[in-house]
Amino acid sequence: MQIVPTKVVWMDGKLVPWDQATIHVASHVIHYASSVFSGGRCYRRANGDPVGFRLYDHAKRLVDSCKLTLMADQLPYSVDDIYHAIIQTIEANGLVPCYIRPVIYRGYGELGVMSRNCPVNMFILIQDWGSYLGDRPARVMVSSRRRPRSDSMFMGAKTGANYQPGQYMKNLATMLGFDEAIALTEDGLVSEGSGENIFMVRDGVLYTPDLASSVLGGIMRDTVITLARDLGIEVREQRIPPEFLYTSDEVFFTGSAAEITPIGLVDTTPIDQTPGNITTLIRRSLFGIINGPDVEGQPGWMTRHGGWLTSLNLATE
Ligand SMILES: Cc1ncc(COP(=O)(O)O)c(C=O)c1O
Repeated sequence: MQIVPTKVVWMDGKLVPWDQATIHVASHVIHYASSVFSGGRCYRRANGDPVGFRLYDHAKRLVDSCKLTLMADQLPYSVDDIYHAIIQTIEANGLVPCYIRPVIYRGYGELGVMSRNCPVNMFILIQDWGSYLGDRPARVMVSSRRRPRSDSMFMGAKTGANYQPGQYMKNLATMLGFDEAIALTEDGLVSEGSGENIFMVRDGVLYTPDLASSVLGGIMRDTVITLARDLGIEVREQRIPPEFLYTSDEVFFTGSAAEITPIGLVDTTPIDQTPGNITTLIRRSLFGIINGPDVEGQPGWMTRHGGWLTSLNLATE
């Protein structure tokens, strides 16, 4: 999806015009990928109201990623500050629906691998971003690249550096005519897509790789597990052999960008049910909450009240 300039970018506490939202080439992040980020969405409900989906959880995971990259003690913002800065950025741009990309990174200071003497900077930009993998079932390949183990890199952190194998997987998959690639763990078990978690349905049971399978702890992953259990569906988070990818009744990706995307083909094997009944049920439940206005999901999931979007001249509750 092509980037389209918006009015402003939030940079280190200020709203900066799009064209002035730049960083210096000497910044540590340019040389050593010293960044962490997140990506959430603000939706417009069927009745016109804007709603942020699990934005506080995105801010919290961002700070957790800073802890895992030894930036948290130098970060001048709390989870609350980041959450409010996200809202301020949406409001200042007046763009709903939107995808929100906060990035925390090591800026301009010293050259060299040691980054503690470089400042911890932050920006937030938003974009009008449609469905990440398109509207038809995804065609995926199993990659020859493995997701590293968390004793090499913390795979539960959302760091820029963690996306190196992912970029290779995704680029090669699209060059070969697929939409996305799935990585296995270093032990050869199912891990996740380059930008999504993965779920499989077998005989009515929902499976997803556990958090020790080199996956990112996706906020949509957690949402889907919660919604499935609410619907009475048995969910198993466990180590998963790659055979499940080819022989499950339903397979789907989850992510804040990808939402819930059914998978129709793995390498050369079509998936029997695309989208299957359980995928459809969970998707309906998710969009029931997003579209509202009467269903809310878990406490704290939705940002909708209190007039924070009043300058957009939209109804608030
Ligand atoms: C590697 C990876 N796994 C999983 C996810 C899903 O995470 P979330 O649901 O928090 O968007 C993403 C999303 O960006 C991702 O990049």
